[in-house]
Amino acid sequence: MSSSAAPLLQLSSAVVLLLVSSCAATDHIVGANKGWNPGLNYTLWANNHTFYVGDLISFRYQKTQYNVFEVNQTGYDNCTTEGATGNWSSGKDFILLDKAKRYYFICGNGGCFSGMKVSVLVHPLPPPPKSSMADHTSAAAAPIGVLGVILGALVSACFGLG
Ligand SMILES: *[C@@H]1O[C@H](CO)[C@@H](O)[C@H](O)[C@H]1NC(C)=O
Ligand SMILES: *[C@@H]1O[C@H](CO)[C@@H](O)[C@H](O)[C@H]1NC(C)=O
Ligand SMILES: *[C@@H]1O[C@H](CO)[C@@H](O)[C@H](O)[C@H]1NC(C)=O
Ligand SMILES: *[C@@H]1O[C@H](CO)[C@@H](O)[C@H](O)[C@H]1NC(C)=O
Ligand SMILES: *[C@@H]1O[C@H](CO)[C@@H](O)[C@H](O)[C@H]1NC(C)=O
Repeated sequence: MSSSAAPLLQLSSAVVLLLVSSCAATDHIVGANKGWNPGLNYTLWANNHTFYVGDLISFRYQKTQYNVFEVNQTGYDNCTTEGATGNWSSGKDFILLDKAKRYYFICGNGGCFSGMKVSVLVHPLPPPPKSSMADHTSAAAAPIGVLGVILGALVSACFGLG
């Protein structure tokens, strides 16, 4: 490898780290491989996950049988959709958790009474790790074109995920 490759490599890995940490939103699949179905305890599922602002929660189910409503605590406790703030029925619904608060989702056509209800507490984003990017940026002078390509690929990979 040429003598100019080392700083480029170093810079590239710094860029990769930064991008990964800035777009590492998690998609939490409700019920994992069991999906959104009756007879499961979604409290156990939710207790096994940590949710952060910007994460997605996704529901996978037979769209002819079930659906998803976002409700308040009363709706969750009583299995009612009165005053619901959202509803989905595609069978593969991705919902952005964009606020730090407790969310409540239920199945709106009876499934709720068979356990199809889930409540998740969304935490604020943890503070970003202190980055040493500033120390590295001066090395960017020469191979900026190569970096641009790497950056472009990563950014599109990042935003193509949703
Ligand atoms: C689900 O599990 C939680 C935690 O163990 C428990 O408190 C709750 O009663 C269970 N719900 C049902 C419907 O079994
Ligand atoms: C919790 O998560 C782990 C790791 O993904 C998994 O192996 C385990 O089965 C999960 N437990 C429950 C109750 O979902
Ligand atoms: C609905 O749930 C609330 C608690 O959130 C409870 O106080 C109320 O009695 C319930 N209403 C009905 C109709 O079940
Ligand atoms: C939930 O929404 C219903 C309908 O808008 C309302 O009557 C109820 O008071 C709300 N419950 C809570 C806990 O905000
Ligand atoms: C579902 O949401 C749409 C808006 O996205 C709303 O127009 C409709 O009334 C809702 N359906 C129910 C049953 O709440």
